[in-house]
Amino acid sequence: MMHFHIMTLFPDMVLNGLNTSILKRGIDAGYIDIEAVNIRDFTENKHNRVDDYTYGGGAGMLMQAQPVYDCCEYIQDNILKSGRKKARVVFATPRGITFTQKKAEEFSSEEDLIILCGHYEGIDERVLNEIVTDHISIGDYVLTGGELPAMVMVDCISRLIPGVLSNEESSTVESFSDGLLEYPQYTRPEEWHGEKVPEVLLSGHHLNIEKWRLERSLEETKRFRPDLYDIYVKTHPIQEKKRKNKGN
Ligand code: ADE
Repeated sequence: MMHFHIMTLFPDMVLNGLNTSILKRGIDAGYIDIEAVNIRDFTENKHNRVDDYTYGGGAGMLMQAQPVYDCCEYIQDNILKSGRKKARVVFATPRGITFTQKKAEEFSSEEDLIILCGHYEGIDERVLNEIVTDHISIGDYVLTGGELPAMVMVDCISRLIPGVLSNEESSTVESFSDGLLEYPQYTRPEEWHGEKVPEVLLSGHHLNIEKWRLERSLEETKRFRPDLYDIYVKTHPIQEKKRKNKGN
């Protein structure tokens, strides 16, 4: 069971996005749970404000330290009261290191994960220094807030939690798990728009099917992600040599 805790000003956005499909099934079956905690509920400002102008001037507003800190303390206290250890706090920010499958695997072994979603122009640096353990970006572009990145991370991490995916959906053979893109797949009918399903897939010869799939994975990777292909060839020199010798 993995517990996600999302600190946000828009809890509905996050919960609506995540309480569907496979993740909903995972929640209902007790493999994951996702709480969205509204940072605004922790403000001590009498007008319920959580933002203010930046010192030094400049456009835009910043989220203040107090509500963010108190919200995080509330979550961490609950985790400790439940007998679990203090959680890592991930801040979704374009300045972070890039989220990858490898990072997702690392996070998937945590019991709890707190994700902090920023808004406005950012968050007061002092509270970030005090509570954040990991700065993570989902890519080199700027979004209006951390909610979509939080959803991306929760989705990607959740499918690695045992039980969330069924056997058929299982995540063992797929893009990135071995550094290669997935091979092409086909379903009925056997012929569509004049195009036939590759013969080998209808043969029932499992070894040949495996070989064909690896070959096609390599071709796909070489074509669409030459950067990944180069890494694969460097890290699998013996397999590559064998393959070439066979005249493949
Ligand atoms: N917040 C705004 N843009 C972001 C990004 N690219 N990744 C993570 N958090 C963000």
